[in-house]
Order: sequence, then structure tokens, then C-alpha cells
Amino acid sequence: MSMKTGFDDLVTARRSIRKYTDENIPESHILDMVTSAVNAPSPSNRQPVRYLHLVSSESRQGILKNMESGYHNMLTQAQSLEKPRKAINILNHYWRYSYFMFHAPALFAVGVEKKGDSFSGKLNRAGLMEAKGLETMGCDISLGLSLQFFMLKAVELGLGTCILTAPLHFLERECTISGTENLSIRCFLTVGFPDEYPAVPKRKQPIEIYRKI
Ligand SMILES: Cc1cc2nc3c(=O)[nH]c(=O)nc-3n(C[C@H](O)[C@H](O)[C@H](O)COP(=O)(O)O)c2cc1C
Repeated sequence: MSMKTGFDDLVTARRSIRKYTDENIPESHILDMVTSAVNAPSPSNRQPVRYLHLVSSESRQGILKNMESGYHNMLTQAQSLEKPRKAINILNHYWRYSYFMFHAPALFAVGVEKKGDSFSGKLNRAGLMEAKGLETMGCDISLGLSLQFFMLKAVELGLGTCILTAPLHFLERECTISGTENLSIRCFLTVGFPDEYPAVPKRKQPIEIYRKI
């Protein structure tokens, strides 16, 4: 489908897509999105964000099994609550908003390097500042920016994406993927050619998120 690709067009056309066609994603498109992501800014240009493309059934199955264990444990816990129905509905709702990722043509675990030498870390070690919980802030901002660059490039290529953090809540154990122990997995990302065209979810007016003080 041809589309306009000005900045505003990309921003307004992007939607979270949860249903995809079976069409394979050309490897060149994946590289184009990753190339866009590496152009995102990061503190001291440390570039802490990593995209793990989960292609082997071993890596996908490991995550699915881990999530299923957590889901079933929470369902069991919910049964013993005084009012189990509400908790079970919440679990089932978020399970649906997690499980679809295993049907996406491409699934990424997106992480940040655990050992980043942040400004806060340097100040802390030099004895100039108490730990203020700022150590991971730069990584979280870098992650968001990197994902944004990746996702807008996807729109330009006619692809749909969806960020997922709900699955992390179902994981029974920390999400470790063999060979990537240095990474903290912060979200999953699905990619594929869209098989749905959701309406724009209601957005706040600019005046609601902007003010002069
Ligand atoms: C940090 C983050 C986490 C999200 N986690 C999930 C998720 O676990 N499952 C899901 O289906 N969508 C998830 N989403 C997508 C949001 O539901 C979606 O962005 C929001 O409803 C607005 O819709 P839009 O992206 O089409 O504009 C997430 C989005 C963000 C930014």
C-alpha cells in the first residue's frame, strides 16, 4: 500500500498492530529499522539498546514456557482470593495482550546493557553524589527513543509494530536468553505486515500536556 512519508504522516499513521499477514519481512527491512534505531541519541553516545531477533524455536519456546508458568501460578493464586473473578479477568485480558506476540512474523526482545558507565554512576563512585536511583534513567530514555526511530522506519516501510511490556509481568523467572546475560530485557517488539487497521485511540489535546509555568 502506498503512503505519504512526511514526518507528520509517519507519526499519525503509526498504530500498535497486533494482527499480521503471513508475508515474510525482507531482511533488508529489518536492517533498515535497526539502522534507524542506531541513529537515536543516548547519554554520552553510549548506545545501550540491543535488539534480539528471536528466530529459533528454542529462544521463543523458552520465553513462552517461562510466561506460561507465571500465568498459571498467578491464576492459582487468584483462585484463593476472596473475589477471584476480577483478578482472573485482569490476568486473562493481559495474557491476550501478551500471547499474540508469538504469532507475529518477527519478535524481538529489546534490552539495555546492564553495565553502563552512567554519569550518576561516575559521580557516585567519585563520592560526589549519593545513589539517587538515576542510574537507569538514561537507559530507559535511550530505549524509548531507539524504539521510536525503529517503529517510525517500520511505518515508512509499510510494516506494523507493537511494543509489549505485559509479557514481562508473566515471566516466572528473569528473562535470560542464552548468551545475553549482560542485558536487561525491558520489552518485546513485534513486527510484520499489518492485517488490521485500528482506529486512532483517543489522544489528549496538546493543551492538556503542555503549559508554561
Ligand atoms: C511501554 C509500552 C508498553 C506496551 N505494552 C503493551 C502490551 O504489553 N501489549 C499490547 O498489546 N500493547 C502494548 N502497548 C501498546 C499500547 O497499548 C498502545 O501504544 C496504546 O494503546 C496506544 O495505541 P497506538 O500505539 O496504536 O497509538 C505498549 C505500549 C508502550 C509504549
